[in-house]
Amino acid sequence: MERELVLVLDFGGQYNQLIARRVRECNVYCEVHPCTLTMDTIKEMNPKGIIFTGGPNSVYGEEAPRCPKEMFELGIPILGICYGSQLMAYMLGGSVKTAPVSEYGKTEVEADGSSALFQGVSAKTICWMSHTDYIEKAPAGFAVTAHTPVCPVAAMEWAEKKLYAVQFHPEVMHTQEGMKMLSNFIYQICGCSGDWKMDSFVETTIAQIRNRVGSGKVLCALSGGVDSSVAAVLLSRAVGKQLTCVFVDHGLLRKNEGDEVEAVFGPEGQYDLNFIRVNAQKRFYDRLAGVTEPEKKRKIIGEEFIRVFEEEAKKIGAVDFLVQGTIYPDVIESGLGKSAVIKSHHNVGGLPDCVDFKEIIEPLRLLFKDEVRKAGLELGIPDYLVYRQPFPGPGLGVRIVGEVTADKVRIVQDADAIYREELAKAGCDQGLGQYFAALTNMQSVGVMGDERTYDYAVALRAVITSDFMTAEAAEIPYAVLSKVMNRVINEVKGVNRVMYDLTSKPPGTIEFE
Ligand code: XMP
Repeated sequence: MERELVLVLDFGGQYNQLIARRVRECNVYCEVHPCTLTMDTIKEMNPKGIIFTGGPNSVYGEEAPRCPKEMFELGIPILGICYGSQLMAYMLGGSVKTAPVSEYGKTEVEADGSSALFQGVSAKTICWMSHTDYIEKAPAGFAVTAHTPVCPVAAMEWAEKKLYAVQFHPEVMHTQEGMKMLSNFIYQICGCSGDWKMDSFVETTIAQIRNRVGSGKVLCALSGGVDSSVAAVLLSRAVGKQLTCVFVDHGLLRKNEGDEVEAVFGPEGQYDLNFIRVNAQKRFYDRLAGVTEPEKKRKIIGEEFIRVFEEEAKKIGAVDFLVQGTIYPDVIESGLGKSAVIKSHHNVGGLPDCVDFKEIIEPLRLLFKDEVRKAGLELGIPDYLVYRQPFPGPGLGVRIVGEVTADKVRIVQDADAIYREELAKAGCDQGLGQYFAALTNMQSVGVMGDERTYDYAVALRAVITSDFMTAEAAEIPYAVLSKVMNRVINEVKGVNRVMYDLTSKPPGTIEFE
């Protein structure tokens, strides 16, 4: 049976991934593609519905992205959001105008409950608006189904043609009944049945991998992070001992983390696979000696990782498949947009070049992060691994400002372990995007007992974020911070000051380097 698909056509809006996630939360598979997708490809994909995203353009602009007019004649339901709604209005003969002032923020919208889109939605509902242009007049054939005091066409539809448009953003959480509207579009209007379920994904993927790999040899770089762990377990379920996982312990992991990964995936663990742990701590510290520039440190750690992995791969000999933990946001980002490089995050990007293999397997290519987690749970991976906060590839290397030494690694590992333990004990770790201790490069004077000290300052950080592109410092209760400070100073040799980082992102970044 063919899987149901809802297609999101990206017109340059900032919420394109969010729309796709929301559709998948309704148990319908969804893909994001550029708005330039050809009609032939769309017909071939045979989607149950199409959603046009917002975008920064004005429909009258020279560069304004369009879609072929034929798309409106396919009989496939279309929902236009923001720019997508204006485009639909403009291309079908309505009128779009530029308002003297933008409508921005939470806005009360009066919606017509007799529209299939607004079934079960309150007559007055709070929606998120963010636009300057607006639809002044809906095209002939369309009925206006929602408005605000300043926006005459907040929603319009031509139900017989299955064309729907909303000026606001149903996908953002500020639109209080947005999920209801999207679910109405997907189920009432597109007629989906909701066949995107994690257990069927896991089962189908295992069968596909088995088919593809046959009796081939598979190699996977395991970091202990959620993506590589889920990828490894999927492969192990599919091909067992034909899979070898190489885990490089670069000495920049959190306290006891290397042993924890080994306990789950090693010979004593529950999975059927070959596990190789490489204890390469000293090699990394040697290469990092005297290096202080963050990007240079990242580069060294990335290169050394590849070198170590290459040596292991050579020992194993030619393999048929290399596993990569690519997830859907990486696929969308590499295919759709370009952004400035603030930090070179993708530090294992060189892996495929150093291994002798025939094909790459990316079993998580279609999944968002929350879906990777669901798949992990489905596969029986322990909760603490599945819900592990993101940990940067260069590890503590970017949480130690300045030169990395074995002693500084010990300090930051111990302080971080205390911090995490106390946050968990106080129940403050829920809802945090990332939280950790970092070692500033600052040494300052203190007094302990009757002695003068000249030791390091540890910085504690905790951020709330949903996308890791922006973040706010979390409000950790003073009593908890105070307890952590006490314990760190008393238990971690070499530290005489503890600070809490209040900086949001921007202007700061989440990591210190
Ligand atoms: P920043 O510090 O840029 O971090 O606000 C955003 C997210 O990316 C992670 N991060 C990295 N991940 N290699 C990685 O794999 C890196 O070099 C790297 N630098 C930052 C960071 O932990 C946060 O989740």
